[in-house]
Amino acid sequence: MKGIILAGGTGSRLFPLTKVANKHLLPVYDKPMIYYPILTLKKAGIKDILIVSGKGHVGGFLELLGSGKDFAVNLSYEIQEEAGGIAQALSLAENFASGEKIVVILGDNIFEDDISEYVSEFESEEDGSAIFLKEVANPSSYGVAEFKNEKLIGIIEKPLNPPSSLAVTGLYMYDNNVFDVIRTLKPSTRGELEVTDLNNYYLKKGMLDHYMVKGFWGDCGESVDTLLAVAQTVKNLQTRETQKITKQHVVQKNTHSGVGRI
Ligand code: G1P
Repeated sequence: MKGIILAGGTGSRLFPLTKVANKHLLPVYDKPMIYYPILTLKKAGIKDILIVSGKGHVGGFLELLGSGKDFAVNLSYEIQEEAGGIAQALSLAENFASGEKIVVILGDNIFEDDISEYVSEFESEEDGSAIFLKEVANPSSYGVAEFKNEKLIGIIEKPLNPPSSLAVTGLYMYDNNVFDVIRTLKPSTRGELEVTDLNNYYLKKGMLDHYMVKGFWGDCGESVDTLLAVAQTVKNLQTRETQKITKQHVVQKNTHSGVGRI
């Protein structure tokens, strides 16, 4: 299983913070945002990770993260020439995936959960895909899951009248057919290849599992207020959990670097 972090886009909702700086390099409490998805994947045993980012920003990622040695992971990089949506960014990972199943995480999403068990379950399954849902107070800001008789029947991207309060978080697992599916997608009204269309395709084929996120989930890209609130939550979680987390994540050879803690 390989990991892909999507770190493109313009970060327009965080302007002017993102006018020069890449959103995923902004601080979230004591670390650059991109550290968190890297650590989520690493914790799940995923060592080969591709970062897809915009053309003007890849230098910053390289300078900050290099080969991934400090995290004890192998990082690769791919450039998204123009912002064309999440599914378009994902299409750039086809060579990297080289036939394996993939875990995809949006670079501005922060998860408290350990996703190891979901990853190993998915790895041992036949083809398909999976999404992770979280109950939120403001579902209109996200992709929203629609249920009928407790069955997932659709996902609607940022609906004005959300059919539930379950947001589709920025964590997905796909089989290797995902790249063929992306080739069938048409741009949405905002001109992007939408991850929601991708997930609805798998859903219609009866090949989309869903899990509930148990711990904290934050989408730092939603607004400056969310970014601030997520940072505060990360700080509180660290204060409570520092000892446990430090033991779990410290990279043995790099204890001085501090990159191993969440
Ligand atoms: C994207 C997806 C949306 C999902 C969200 C999670 O939205 O399109 O379905 O709920 O990520 O963070 P964006 O934040 O890119 O607008």
